[in-house]
Amino acid sequence: MIAKSGYEALYPPQEEAIKAGVLHGKNLVLASPTASGKTLVAELAILKSIIEKGGKALYLTPLRALASEKYEDFQKYAEIEKSPGRKIRVAVTSGDYDRADIYLENYDIIISTNEKADSLLRHRSPWIADISVVVADEVHLITEADRGPTLEVVLTRLRKTNPHIQILALSATIKNAAEIAEWLNAIPVTTEWRPVPLREGVYFHDEIQFKDGASRIIPRSDTNPVFDTALDVVRQGGQVLIFAETRRLAVEMGKKASALLRRSLPKQDRRGLESIAQRVLSTGERTRLGDTLAEQILNGVAFHHAGLPSPHRRIIEDSFKTGRLKILSATPTLAAGVNLPARTVIISSYERYEPGYGRYPISVLEYKQFCGRAGRPKYDKFGEAILIARTEDEQDYLLKNYALAEPERIWSKLGAEKVLRPHVLATIATRFATTEEGLVNFFANTFYAFQYDPKMIRSKLGDILSFLHREQMVEFNGEELRATKFGRRVSELYIDPVSAVILRDGLYTRAKNVTEVSFLHLISRTPDISPKLYPRRGEDEMLDLFAKEHENEYMCETPEYYGDANGVTYEEFLAEIKCARVMYEWINETTEDAILETHRVEPGDIMRMVDTSQWLLHATYQLAELFGHKDLLRPTYELQVRCSKGVKAELVPLVELDGVGRVRARSLFNAGYRTLEDLKHCSVTDLMSVPLIGPSLAKRIKEQVGGLIKAEEWESLKSKTAESTEQSLLTDYRKGEGS
Ligand SMILES: Nc1ncnc2c1ncn2[C@@H]1O[C@H](COP(=O)(O)OP(=O)(O)OP(=O)(O)O)[C@@H](O)[C@H]1O
Ligand SMILES: [Mg+2]
Repeated sequence: MIAKSGYEALYPPQEEAIKAGVLHGKNLVLASPTASGKTLVAELAILKSIIEKGGKALYLTPLRALASEKYEDFQKYAEIEKSPGRKIRVAVTSGDYDRADIYLENYDIIISTNEKADSLLRHRSPWIADISVVVADEVHLITEADRGPTLEVVLTRLRKTNPHIQILALSATIKNAAEIAEWLNAIPVTTEWRPVPLREGVYFHDEIQFKDGASRIIPRSDTNPVFDTALDVVRQGGQVLIFAETRRLAVEMGKKASALLRRSLPKQDRRGLESIAQRVLSTGERTRLGDTLAEQILNGVAFHHAGLPSPHRRIIEDSFKTGRLKILSATPTLAAGVNLPARTVIISSYERYEPGYGRYPISVLEYKQFCGRAGRPKYDKFGEAILIARTEDEQDYLLKNYALAEPERIWSKLGAEKVLRPHVLATIATRFATTEEGLVNFFANTFYAFQYDPKMIRSKLGDILSFLHREQMVEFNGEELRATKFGRRVSELYIDPVSAVILRDGLYTRAKNVTEVSFLHLISRTPDISPKLYPRRGEDEMLDLFAKEHENEYMCETPEYYGDANGVTYEEFLAEIKCARVMYEWINETTEDAILETHRVEPGDIMRMVDTSQWLLHATYQLAELFGHKDLLRPTYELQVRCSKGVKAELVPLVELDGVGRVRARSLFNAGYRTLEDLKHCSVTDLMSVPLIGPSLAKRIKEQVGGLIKAEEWESLKSKTAESTEQSLLTDYRKGEGS
């Protein structure tokens, strides 16, 4: 199979890893540059374990997008027989944290995000005992403050539950791979090998100075050096990734690059670009952000950031991979996401800004991640990573501190109380620890305890335990430490214990008037909604007004203009109100474009808020059930559905249909189809006369609601189906409307 994929020999890092004993079950930390073939090492170990030992593999990735990428890639193994008549089965799982996913016991390779794996451990999924090999991809994530600790805890737990598990940790080049290896009882393999050689340089004054001493002149026009360099590369047949500091800059640089590239774009490229732009415009709701993107695409340029809805990001990634787009202007998130190489990577700024902290230079680790995107295997003979200097001194500084520098050590971030708290509760709730001593012992096995003094963890654990005890999530029975029913549920619901307290107390407080705003505000108050949406200049008044209009609806004390309530200041309260207000507009069918216009909240952010809110509303429902608030069950359930689809209550029955999102549901409703019963009694032809409903969707609706379709009616409709309608339905389906 490997030969069939066109591989002729192992890459040097792969050879080294195998020599280190990966195929004999040895634990491994493989720190090696981007695209140096780390995945294959994991794949070989996985297959070995599945076929020879009948084991199961868990492949951990930091992002959903990476999990799907691996899932698609690993499908090739589904044709191998692991035993006579039984082929290997591959599954991907992410999202919905409140499930044990028992069905996964039938799969051999399970690809999961770190968070999902953590939630599965909390649900004590029985098949976890069968895992014989775990792969922690992008293990340098451990050093990230908000998401690193989860990975660390998952690995610690897995080692405890499955003492014979083989661990493979894959990482970008880092300084302390050996330290991680020591923690995991693994063999460290570090390499600098790349399939495409990398040239790192710094631009100053018409010239790029490379770290190997070479240099290259860049013809200057009157523009920014970023664009001079980019256009020079495109003229020579390469593609360019520009990393911008912020979303706004990514869009602006895209705009500028697009205006410049327009002049030199060959005619034959235009048609292809038009069809990509068209795809962007016809996918999801039309917004000004999408329009700006489509305009840039027409000239072979795009921007890429987390404010774009994910179907748009997918379109751009695909079009860049096929070479249609020449320049991509992206925020740093792209460097950690799916594999998207370009010949030249331009790092337009090596500084970042953080409110209250000021400007600071990025880490070498981050710089190296940008470099990792340079050079397309098979297409480019070399890759280039270029920093931009404004003075000669700065050029020296950048060469020395980035191009020639070693990446930093990575550090565990598990020590912060906020991140440690949920893991402490989970450890007790799953009975991984049944005494305070046991708890200390469990955390003594983490990377945090390995890097720092294990004693440091003891006092932190004490503080957290008293919080959990005070809030009745854990109880002591002599020496024995147990989670209460509440504590166990909180751990499984995968919410911050502090959020759980806010929700629980809110449910008891009761507003004078309980409405959708009551719940939306309550969840917006929890630390699981993060980062908060702070009001923009000029938005205060509008939010203040909204807050006053709903003053009888809050399920907690709220602060006055000057002063605070339970430590929440008025400013923070308005940030909660802003979140609640955006969600309120969303469930009342305000368009994405209008939300963008009024609140500067972009479609990608709305989608993330929808995800989180839905999950918190699920938690609210579950806690309402646990504490016996029967009257709150229906409203929280309905709100959850409305939130997931962005609709008013009257559309809830319609959006439950596959293929029907909020726009089409509204269209059906306005045409007089208000219930599934109404749909059952109409013909396919009737349905097709509704705006936005094409023949295949009409058929799909009929299939779901029941009722007859006459064969001859269907045949005649099918022949009329224009190809373009099918096309647009396909894109709707991909974007997951109503699925
Ligand atoms: N021995 C080989 N011969 C030819 N191509 C290979 C070989 N091994 C891997 N590749 C190809 O190299 C590419 C990069 O491999 P891989 O995704 O494993 O990189 P990686 O080391 O995990 O990088 P990253 O840090 O980006 O995750 C893949 O497209 C893979 O198909
Ligand atoms: Mg990889």
